[in-house]
Amino acid sequence: MSVVGKSIPRLDAVEKVTGCAKYVDDISMPGMWHGAVVRTTIPYGRIKSIELGPTFDWGRVVVADARDVPGKNCVAMIEEDVPLIVTDLFKHIGEAVLLVAAPARELALEARRHVKISYEELQPIFTIEDAKLARVKLCGDDNVIARYSISKGDIAKGFKEADVVVDGRYTMGHQEHMYIEPQGMIASLRDDGGLAIVGSLQCPYYISKAISILMGMTEDKLAIRQAAVGGAFGGKEDYPSILAGYCAVLARKSGRPVKIVYDRAEDTQVTTKRHPAIVRHKTGVRRDGTITAMEIDVEMDAGAYVTLTPVVLSRGLIHSAGPYRCDNVIARGVAYATNTPPNGAFRGFGAPQVFFPLEVQMDRCASKIGMSPLEFRKRNCLHIGDSTSTGQVIRESAGGLASLKSASQISDFENRRKRFSDENRGGIRRGVGISFFFHGAGFTGSGEARMKGEAALRLDPDGKIVILTACTEMGQGAHTVLQQIAADALGVDISCIGVETPDTSLVPNSGPTVASRTTLVVGTVLKKCAVELKEKLFSYAAERFPIDKAGCELNGHSLMSGDREIVSVSDLVKGYIEKAGALTVKDHYELPPDIHWDEAAYKGDAYPTYAWGADVAEVEVDMDTFEYRVVKMWMAHEVGRAINPKLAAGQIEGGTLQSVGWATTEQHVVDAGRFKTDRFQTYIIPTALDAPEMETMIIEEAFSHGPMGAKGLGELPMDGGAPAIANAIAHATGIRICDLPITPEKLHAAWSLTQSTGKI
Ligand code: MOS
Repeated sequence: MSVVGKSIPRLDAVEKVTGCAKYVDDISMPGMWHGAVVRTTIPYGRIKSIELGPTFDWGRVVVADARDVPGKNCVAMIEEDVPLIVTDLFKHIGEAVLLVAAPARELALEARRHVKISYEELQPIFTIEDAKLARVKLCGDDNVIARYSISKGDIAKGFKEADVVVDGRYTMGHQEHMYIEPQGMIASLRDDGGLAIVGSLQCPYYISKAISILMGMTEDKLAIRQAAVGGAFGGKEDYPSILAGYCAVLARKSGRPVKIVYDRAEDTQVTTKRHPAIVRHKTGVRRDGTITAMEIDVEMDAGAYVTLTPVVLSRGLIHSAGPYRCDNVIARGVAYATNTPPNGAFRGFGAPQVFFPLEVQMDRCASKIGMSPLEFRKRNCLHIGDSTSTGQVIRESAGGLASLKSASQISDFENRRKRFSDENRGGIRRGVGISFFFHGAGFTGSGEARMKGEAALRLDPDGKIVILTACTEMGQGAHTVLQQIAADALGVDISCIGVETPDTSLVPNSGPTVASRTTLVVGTVLKKCAVELKEKLFSYAAERFPIDKAGCELNGHSLMSGDREIVSVSDLVKGYIEKAGALTVKDHYELPPDIHWDEAAYKGDAYPTYAWGADVAEVEVDMDTFEYRVVKMWMAHEVGRAINPKLAAGQIEGGTLQSVGWATTEQHVVDAGRFKTDRFQTYIIPTALDAPEMETMIIEEAFSHGPMGAKGLGELPMDGGAPAIANAIAHATGIRICDLPITPEKLHAAWSLTQSTGKI
């Protein structure tokens, strides 16, 4: 009967593959107009004047500026520092100066071309290095947007105990989400003076809060609804609040529904990206392979405003020492302001930026003491009873070593490595590399305790039991997985379960769909709701039928009393509503007991639990052109319990491929704050044809506080691909590239240097 652990097809599969699903651009409303945004065209300055060109008939359109924002002119995220529409000072290319709405999109775009803005130009900064010099001050006196540090043990003692010390510096640029569907939103006025907003989004309640502040309306006047979403990957976590703000202001001013859907170039220029980072490592190692000290410095480029940067930096820093046992750790993290669009959430949320450095660093440590990279990782891997860099003791569900063993087994790592080492000479060289990582599920620290994410089960008059959650389906299969959990928790067939569209007027605030939290958090709450709902249904049944409540069970399509089938689930639900009225059972998430986080000291249990992974990559490098190919990836990931193994494998493959792209071809060319690589032609992500062969192994070590043992999995696979590839390339060629992406040009330059100096 149980459906958990079965690879049932995704709920949304048929409507998406048949083209029936309604994405925001498929939605039209009577009288709907189209919006366009007039934007700043230089990276830093003040607005001197705005001129509406005399040759355009402005009577055909509606123009809005900051005076048309009825509430506070800022988009609330962690802080309220992002203006929706700038009036004077601005800090990056693409900030809104005016909004235009017109009956047709072409007309709105034409109007935009007739606006002339003149500026007072200020001296901008674009890099972490420039921000540190602080000749230009964008944020305080030092341009620091956020700063954290972690300290464990005695770092000086750790280095004293080391036989060798290895230094490393690692750098990486922006990564673009490149979801297939660009950002889009529609706002329309409601009869009660409120606003309805529908769009491509991850977090309806984030938008609700932001719009409430912008429009000076209470949240009960707002209905924020998710349309079908064509990919998000973190990119539709924070930015949609800004786009929703534009549409809301235009809808209010024009009195009509207003839609804005970005084209690719606009989307790329103004929306968030993965934070560029510079990471330094100093690692102390003994000859026997023990890591005695880790000193880590993480610097991130936040972009122009605070937005989500503090939490991205925090997650990055907490993961920076990785799944390794080390008694003496210092990790420092700083994020700096620059005159580029704010960087934000992107699958992994800071962790990929620390795992690429860490895992290349671990290979270099192993090599320095002449140990196999696999053996080195096994020797230092966290086990139950060990503690992480924040002092979190790993209590259960710790599949690190199992992941390492499985990844090496399925890839035949040691033999393959030896074979390639023996064979490698001449034109084509092959290499194999490994990476090891873990990823916390849920918000960091006390985040989930503060959030108290809610979900509910509702009885529907058509006889179904419907899941109410604000967590969104964006291609990851979340709604299918939640449906499986609810079905099993209730004991009913999956066809008895429905899922409500995430809409803030219909569903409770489950928190955002981010941070590998949906399965763990919402799944756990639905399990609690199921217990209470059964209790209510059985009480009703015991009054209605000649049965004993204690003997009641739901089983598939039926209510059973012992062996006897009493009534169908559908009729039970309908009967309940007829007798007792509508019923919604709601509950909220609570952290497992014994989870304690000290925010001031940055110590303790940073996450309720971690998922673990090890990846192996095989590459083939042409030593004449330095072009290379990722031939195969093996991924062994420990996820607690795979509620739907095929969907879990899909997450692992997709996340790994995104990491492959980050490592190999994805490179933003930024010219004075402008993204020149603003299309699929120039920002190269791997297509199906570029994807390496992949072999996935899912390992399950049940987490006792997860729904049916599940943890979180959405971000984990983004952490491991890039370093495994970098290590494989180093194995094949002897060249270590510590700057992403690893291009043939960088390999060639590094190779030429080794040829001229004779040093590797
Ligand atoms: Mo995210 S990167 O936690 O949507």
